[in-house]
Amino acid sequence: MKSFVRIFIVALCLTFPVGLAAEENSNSVFIYSPNPQGGLHIARQNGQGWQEMGRLCSSDYGTWGPEKKMYSPSVCRAKDGTWRLVFQVNDHAPLFAAAYSRDLVNWRPQDYPIMTTRPCREPVVFENPDGTFDIYYKSDKGKRFVSATPNFRDFAPDVASQISDDAWIRDTATIQGKLMQGQCFELSDRELQQIEDHFRLSGQDWQLSNERMHDDGERFASMNSPISATLRVDMSQQKPISDKLIGIFFEDISYAADGGLYAEMVQNRDFEYTPKDHGGWNATTAWHSSKPIEIATEHPLHPNNPHYALLWPDTIWNEGWDGMVVEKGKKYDFSMYVFAGGQKQDFMIQLVGQNGNVLAKSKLKTKASDWQQFSTVLTATASDTKARLVIIPQKAAHVGVDMISLFPQETFMNRKNGLRKDLAETIARLKPKFVRFPGGCMSHGQGLENIYHWNHTIGSLQERKPDFNIWHYHQTRGLGFYEYFQFCEDIGAEPLPVLAAGVPCQNSANNAEGIGGQQGGIPMDEMPAYVQEILNLIEWANGDPATSEWARKRAEAGHPEPFHLKYLGLGNEDIISTVFEERYEMLCRAVRATYPDIKICGTVGPFHAPSADYMEGWEFTKKHPDLQYMTDEHYYESTGWFMHHRDYYDHYDRTAAKVYLGEWAASTRTKRPNVETALAEALYLTDIERNGDVVEMTSYAPMLSKDGHSNWNPDMIYFSNTDVRTTPAYEVQRLFSNYGGDRYVTSTLVTSNTELNYRLGASVVRDSKTGKTFVKLVNALPVAVKLSVEGLSLTGARGEGFSGKPEEQQLNITNLQLGDNITLPPYSLSVVEL
Ligand code: AHR
Repeated sequence: MKSFVRIFIVALCLTFPVGLAAEENSNSVFIYSPNPQGGLHIARQNGQGWQEMGRLCSSDYGTWGPEKKMYSPSVCRAKDGTWRLVFQVNDHAPLFAAAYSRDLVNWRPQDYPIMTTRPCREPVVFENPDGTFDIYYKSDKGKRFVSATPNFRDFAPDVASQISDDAWIRDTATIQGKLMQGQCFELSDRELQQIEDHFRLSGQDWQLSNERMHDDGERFASMNSPISATLRVDMSQQKPISDKLIGIFFEDISYAADGGLYAEMVQNRDFEYTPKDHGGWNATTAWHSSKPIEIATEHPLHPNNPHYALLWPDTIWNEGWDGMVVEKGKKYDFSMYVFAGGQKQDFMIQLVGQNGNVLAKSKLKTKASDWQQFSTVLTATASDTKARLVIIPQKAAHVGVDMISLFPQETFMNRKNGLRKDLAETIARLKPKFVRFPGGCMSHGQGLENIYHWNHTIGSLQERKPDFNIWHYHQTRGLGFYEYFQFCEDIGAEPLPVLAAGVPCQNSANNAEGIGGQQGGIPMDEMPAYVQEILNLIEWANGDPATSEWARKRAEAGHPEPFHLKYLGLGNEDIISTVFEERYEMLCRAVRATYPDIKICGTVGPFHAPSADYMEGWEFTKKHPDLQYMTDEHYYESTGWFMHHRDYYDHYDRTAAKVYLGEWAASTRTKRPNVETALAEALYLTDIERNGDVVEMTSYAPMLSKDGHSNWNPDMIYFSNTDVRTTPAYEVQRLFSNYGGDRYVTSTLVTSNTELNYRLGASVVRDSKTGKTFVKLVNALPVAVKLSVEGLSLTGARGEGFSGKPEEQQLNITNLQLGDNITLPPYSLSVVEL
């Protein structure tokens, strides 16, 4: 370790601007944090005192919301002009946060190096003469420790230090009437100007992003009559674009899987619910009896499903997922595993309606010396929307029961262990070109223990490993990787599994050691096994059962033919920390070396440019062009943002990795899809088609939300047990997907008032296989647009479209047939084919 005196002198020197040109002024700024949730701020000296300029960055540590705190930030300006920041994240974790920046406004994603002491109070950073850094912190007992770092990415284990209190001396400044502690620095005119420009531009962007159509009456007050526009199409100017632009994002969020798309009607069929799934839940949740239900674990059906129920003569019944929908005349497959030590036991199985009327019944005779599955079919003689499943033992015997299951025979494509027909058919109507699964945050999970392991979701239902869901409920994994791949095949979509890149969700709660966030990632000595697990997936999906053990499992499950997996996502909107990058690179290299044809999709964090993860993620992607084919961008934004960032992909590097816009949706304050959000999305999709040479895939997110169990809004499809309600967002996705092409035809939409262009969209694509041409026309103005078209005749073109008031959440889709004079109604989308 370097001596503190030496460091302190260096630090003092660095309070003067680095590389200040002779003619430049020096400007005093004060860097501080107003409160733990407030992040890092900057104020400037304006002659009369300190004037707040804005927030430079904030903490990204721990769970969403109030846990993300920044205590005692310490900033150091390095000799090379870059900035280094450390701060305390809470009062218990054995780590501190570290980040660096070239300009104070764009920060590299934060790293949280794990130390041996906890908590790491008031970390301070100093640069050494050789350009390395030392970070000192205090323990609870006031002891001092230091960790050295050559690069602000790798941090040496902490050792005790004798550093004096001087290291913690802070400057003070009164800002907006409050005395703050912080640090003073000098910036050149140019540096200060850059920061001012940054705040000014973000302010302008924020204003534009706040634009909402419900203010249009005022905004377009002088616009009373239709406007004219011309669409100039140049059929000779075409470029190839992705033929997979529209797919779907499936995440088990808001009861999308269990209780949703997965058609199982029994809730907690395996008696594996625990309070970890949801506060107050246990092995008997959703089950009822006149006496407490006895749960045992001594002789489990499978070690992965340790709990089962021991039945006495008492009747038990299952409430289903908010009840069970039973329809007269329909057949239901009941099955149950029984273990009765060889004695006979008969059960009466009934479906009982809300009034106590029996809707269906069947006797189940069992005799099982060890666990054995018994099944019967129930045929409903009456209907009910909130029925229950009743199991009545016929004599007094002590029997174990587990995996009690009830499926409608009518599932999507009538598959066993299948999907709810109406929901799956609604999804299929989107004609998605790919399906991303199983999430979202659910893929990388709530902490290391909850990372989704695909291999825990295949095989017989009892050998699949249930787990808690980051969205506060239970995953049976009955809808597992086999079922996801089968669904993709059934609807003609490419499978796009997205698995953790060796780190859990960056918003994970604390583990047993009190470490939240990425929790240091999967320990390096366990990474080889995790790498192998990912390789096994490819083998399982594509391998030959004659030679591959993993492929044999697929064949045994009923699919000897390969699933033809082409894409693999690694990571989900992770913080692009050093911990992430190391593991992600390791995974990519292994996949590239073993399966060079697999197209890897990486991640650039949870937000668009210029967020820290986006910037670092793309920098990493471009630095390693050999590793990945595509990278996954996520952004949920306001309608104003989408309308004012229509050129987002126009300037992307055409030679770099492709883009997968894996999670996106427009929202307004009402948080439900409406005509306004749909039109903002439609406008943006016309721009995506124009950029279909760089954007390979997009998927609106989330897709499904069950009434009463929503974790998120907006969603594309809302449903209950009895109905499925599509939204305007769904219709936009359906129209762009059903009328998609693989060639973009150059077209320009011209109006006399170019200031209105951001509210108008047009896109012409061709499908080279069918020879069809598709035209999408978006009018997000409150007046009609009289459109003349040059270079292409739309007369007689047929298609579909909608128009409505911005706030409307229900759409009427109308069939269109265009005449010689084309009028685009106010707030409308028209899609036609030629
Ligand atoms: O789509 C809902 C959630 O949004 C996803 O799980 C996550 O990836 C994102 O933050």
